[in-house]
Amino acid sequence: MNRYDTETITGYLEAEGYEETESNEAADLILLNTCSIRDKAEQKVYSQIGRLEKLKKTNPALKVGVCGCFATRDGEAIAKRGKAVDLVFGTQNIAKLPMLLEEMKERRVVDTEPIAPDFTELAPMARGGGLNAFVSIARGCDNFCTFCVVPYTRGPEWSKPSELIVDEVERAVEEGFREVTLLGQNVNSYGRKSPGELTFGGLMRRLNDVNGLERIRFMTSHPKDCDEDMVDAMGESPKVCEHLHLPVQSGADAVLARMERGYSADEYLEKVSLFRERVKDGVLTSDVIIGFPGERDEDFEGTLRVLREARYDNIYMFKYSPRPGTPAFDMTDTLPEEVLTERFEEASRVQREMTENLHAELVGGVQEVMVEGAVKPKSAPAGCAGCLNFADETDSNWYAGRSRGNHRVQLYAEGYTPEPGDVVEVKIMRGGVHSLAGVSPPSAVAMEEDA
Ligand code: 5AD
Ligand code: SF4
Repeated sequence: MNRYDTETITGYLEAEGYEETESNEAADLILLNTCSIRDKAEQKVYSQIGRLEKLKKTNPALKVGVCGCFATRDGEAIAKRGKAVDLVFGTQNIAKLPMLLEEMKERRVVDTEPIAPDFTELAPMARGGGLNAFVSIARGCDNFCTFCVVPYTRGPEWSKPSELIVDEVERAVEEGFREVTLLGQNVNSYGRKSPGELTFGGLMRRLNDVNGLERIRFMTSHPKDCDEDMVDAMGESPKVCEHLHLPVQSGADAVLARMERGYSADEYLEKVSLFRERVKDGVLTSDVIIGFPGERDEDFEGTLRVLREARYDNIYMFKYSPRPGTPAFDMTDTLPEEVLTERFEEASRVQREMTENLHAELVGGVQEVMVEGAVKPKSAPAGCAGCLNFADETDSNWYAGRSRGNHRVQLYAEGYTPEPGDVVEVKIMRGGVHSLAGVSPPSAVAMEEDA
C-alpha cells in the first residue's frame, strides 16, 4: 500500500513539473513516505530526518516533507522534533498535495486532516518499472484488530468504484504491464458498504475479461470475509493466480478473541479447507504475530498447530509490537523479550521445515513462470545447472521470474532467449526455501534424460 501511495505521490509531483533525481544531493524536494505498523519503522524516520537536516546545511534550497502513516499519527510531533521538515501530510489527503506544495513555498505546512477520496477520476500515477502494476481497490479498514494502527492511520474503509478499477487496470495494460496486484487492507470485503457494487469475487471475474492482462494477484484478505464467492472466483478465473495471503495472526482462540479477529482457529482452518478444495494447486501464505499480550505456552502451541495444518508455503512473522493508541497497548500482560525470541525462533524452525517439504514436493512438476529478466551467471543456482548436464554457472542462459503461486523461480532456458513478460513452462529440478529452480522448456529435460 505504501508503494502504491508513493506511485500516486510521484504522479502528482510529475504533474506539477517535478522530475526524479539520481541522488539526494541533486534534489530540491525529498519526501519520506513512512510506515507505523511496528515500532522499528517509526524509529527509522527520525534517523532519516537527521540525515536530511545535514544535507539542508549544504543545500539550503532543499525542502523536506514527511508523509504516510507515521505522519498521519504524529504529524505535529514530527514537525516539532524534525527542524528540517517543511511539509507533513497524511495518507488520506494525498490528493491535496499540489495545493500543499504551493503553501509550503510560503511557510511550513502540517496537514493530516483526512479528506473523502475523490472517486470520480483516476489520480495521476507514476508506476515503477517491471511487469506488475499495483492497483488500489479500497482505502482504509473498519476491522480495528486490537493490535493494529491501520484503522487510525488510514481511516474507514472505502471501496473504489469497480468501473474506475477496470479503467485503471486497462490503462496499466496499455502502459505495458502484464500483471496487476489489487491492493487493500481488506480486499475481500470489497463493495460490501456500497449498495449495488460488485463483490470481490465479482470484481475478479470482471477483471478476468480485461484483454491483454495475463495475471491478477491481490492482497490482503481477511479470513472472516473469505467466502465461497471469493474462492470460487479464484478457482474459475484463469487469470487470477492461485495464491492466497490469508493472515491468521494466532492459532489460539483466546488470543484471537483478544485480537478481535472475528474467527476461531478451527473456523480459520475451515476456510483453508475451502480454498484447498476449490482452488487447484493453491498456494497459501500468512502473517503471524508472536507474543501478543497474555499468549500462554498452550496458545503458542495452537499457532504451531495451525502452521502445520494450514501448510503455508511461507509466512511473514512479527514479534508483537505495542502501538500507542491501540486497545492492545493498554494490555499489561506483555511477555519478556526472551520469550518472544524463543517462540519466534521455534515458529521459524517449524515453518522452514514446512516450506522445505512443500517445495520438495514441487520438484519434478511443471510451473508456469512469467519471466522477469536474466539473472547474473554468478547467481545462477548451484547444483541445478549441473544436475542434468545443463550449462555450468558461467552460462548466461539463466532467467528469473514468478510462478502463478508467487514462488521465485530461476530457470535455465534451453535453446531460446525469453523476453521479460513471456510466460514459459519450467520443469522444477530443485526446491530451495527461498526459490525454485528448473529448466525450460520441460521437454528439454526429457531429451537430456533420453540422451
Ligand atoms: N505488532 C506486530 N505485528 C503487527 N502487525 C500489525 N500490527 C502489528 C503489531 N502491533 C502485522 C500483522 C499484519 C501485518 C501487516 O503486520 O501480522 O497482518
Ligand atoms: Fe489492521 Fe488488517 Fe486488522 Fe485492518 S484487518 S485492523 S489492517 S490487521
